[in-house]
Order: sequence, then structure tokens, then C-alpha cells
Amino acid sequence: MTATQTWDAALVQQIIESLATKPGALLPILHGIQNALGYIPPESVPMIASALQQTRAEVHGVITFYHHFRMTPPGSHVVQICRAEACQARGSRALEAHIKESLNVDYHGTTADREITLEPVYCLGNCACGPNIRVDDQVLGRIDSERFDALVDELTHQPLEVK
Ligand code: FES
Repeated sequence: MTATQTWDAALVQQIIESLATKPGALLPILHGIQNALGYIPPESVPMIASALQQTRAEVHGVITFYHHFRMTPPGSHVVQICRAEACQARGSRALEAHIKESLNVDYHGTTADREITLEPVYCLGNCACGPNIRVDDQVLGRIDSERFDALVDELTHQPLEVK
């Protein structure tokens, strides 16, 4: 996942054209746009629909069916909590409750300061070291409430500049 970028019609058109002839092109196109921009801008829906000869409603329906896709820009950081079985056995439910409460945000939401977007994920391939979270592109294991709070401090507080 890359940082959020502003609307770029030429880039979106390029992604659509590079994938439109593949079988089942819609999902690869949606992934491509979200990977490039951090979200799927609503302006891209008519472009996708036109390229794939589908209705806007059909494209919109697929975007909203999959929780993975978002149509608004995420916060500066995306935090995913693993909700799969092995992490649950190692305490991810308690961690999840702590994170939601401390950030005051639910899944698919973004904190009021737009620093963190919270998402669920189902296995990060690091099951022996749960509970696991992913922060942007980095998987972090053995996370507890204290480690998570320290991590949020790190993510949201810039180091003081020494003059
Ligand atoms: S179950 Fe959480 S990483 Fe596999």
C-alpha cells in the first residue's frame, strides 16, 4: 500500500487500460487504483464502468461489497488487526477492544485527527507470534496494549526539532 495521493485521472486511466482486457478485470483494476492512490476516488467509477461496459451501479456495488475497498482517503497510517483464529487464541480480541477504545474508532473508520485508519484483516501469515497487527506495510507480532500505545505515540508525534 502506498501513501494516499490526490486524484490523478491520467494515472487511473492508465491502470484501467493496462488491466481492462484481462478476464475478470474489475477486481484487479480496483486493487490497482487503491494500491496507487490509497483509495478508489468516486470519479474513477464512471471511467471503470465505461472501459468494462458495465453500469456505474454495478461497479459501485462491487466496491461497496468488499470491505477492503474504500472510496475516501485513509488516514496517514492504516492499522490492521488480525482477527483470525490463531491471533484470537493469543489475545487479539482484548487487543482489538483496547485499540478501538483508545483510538475512539471502529473498523473502517479514521481517527478524528486523520492519523490512523483501522481495518480488520484475516491472517497476516505470522500466526505463531500473535496477536499480530500490520501498520502500513509492516507486520508486527506479539502486540499488547502497552506496545500498541507506544506505537501510536511514535506514529503520531513528530520528533522535536533541535535548533
Ligand atoms: S491468525 Fe493472525 S497472523 Fe495468522
